[in-house]
Amino acid sequence: MRMHSTSKQLWRDVQVFDGLAQLDEAMNVLVEDGCIAGLWPSSAFDEALAQGAVEAGRGGVMTPGLVDCHTHLVHAGDRAGEFEQRLEGVSYETIARNGGGIISSVRATRAASEDDLIAASLPRLDALLADGVTTLEIKSGYGLTVADELKMLRVARRIGELRPVRVLTTLLGAHALPPEYAGRADDYVSLVCDEMIPAAVAEGLADAVDVFCEGIAFSPAQCERVFQAAQHHGLAIKAHAEQLSNLGGSALAARYGALSADHIEYLDEAGVRAMAEAGTVAVLLPGAFHVLRETQLPPIELLRHYGVPMAVASDANPGTSPICMPTLMANLACTLFRLTPREALAGMTTHGARALGLPDLGRIAVGGPADLCLWDIQQPAELAYAVQAGRLRQRVFNGAITYAR
Ligand code: NIG
Ligand code: FE
Repeated sequence: MRMHSTSKQLWRDVQVFDGLAQLDEAMNVLVEDGCIAGLWPSSAFDEALAQGAVEAGRGGVMTPGLVDCHTHLVHAGDRAGEFEQRLEGVSYETIARNGGGIISSVRATRAASEDDLIAASLPRLDALLADGVTTLEIKSGYGLTVADELKMLRVARRIGELRPVRVLTTLLGAHALPPEYAGRADDYVSLVCDEMIPAAVAEGLADAVDVFCEGIAFSPAQCERVFQAAQHHGLAIKAHAEQLSNLGGSALAARYGALSADHIEYLDEAGVRAMAEAGTVAVLLPGAFHVLRETQLPPIELLRHYGVPMAVASDANPGTSPICMPTLMANLACTLFRLTPREALAGMTTHGARALGLPDLGRIAVGGPADLCLWDIQQPAELAYAVQAGRLRQRVFNGAITYAR
């Protein structure tokens, strides 16, 4: 007699966005042992395959669990006052040069304990999960001492254990020059390379290393030292580059085999070509573009032309993108950057996963992991078209329904 395993779950008559495109007809999706075990048109219902399966849902749109590949979710304090200053005409750079900006979040984050940071960060994580995220990246970068950077990374790991979600961590020691190193940026970069990176590696706290390559942050030569240290320690490389000006940070990162170059509003054709050659993902952050009222658009046409995969992420952070709603990012990617809804959704699934070095995630494919979202909508494009919380009906993480409305 055949064993009926209750771990077999069947979704029937769902419209599927598989991570790259919408499938042509309504599908049935079978999940078993944490994996997608079957995917077939619902018009051809397969008794044998589905035998013993429990019906887990019917109708709606199924997408891969969303991948938010760039966040600064862990931090203390807020910067609402700076938001007001910017509305009065003070620029992000001016605020940063006057000791505000990232440094004001550094002060608050240094003063916070691990438990304080967990309490501050969990509501933001919960907002992402309620909008369909199953995998996210969290950066450090508001500690800027060895101890405080490790504290942030430990918190990132711990909040990932408190919720059904996959967290990847990125050491962003080279985010800003801390005030105690004023005038000694190269010495601070030495601290990042010689102490922070080895300490994070020793504790297994970092999956990747990131830098902020910018006039108000670190020069390409300084970023290159960080990349060399990351490479030496076997960590993946990412870069905040070409956000406010074109310093060639993306091409530099690509030369080091970076997983991604992020922001990239000021990226030029040579940079796009370097990324294409290296397979470096372009991470678009329309939330920061929107909040900073940036006018320089990322070179979307060139990225398309050279076939550079485009991810879309929240950049959730207290300064430039205090927004924890990934589906709003899909909307902004379309309205501000003119991505198609299909491109925006691929950016938050398949390409987001690739920007984290996890190419098996962000897909709905037989044999792949079952991280899934079932949405109360008729077609995938609605996720980018309408801005509306509460459309997530079910969230499946590693084959288990971890949220159901
Ligand atoms: O991704 N560009 C640098 N870092 C963040 C902003 C951090 C902040 O302002 O606190 C970003 O936009
Ligand atoms: Fe960022």
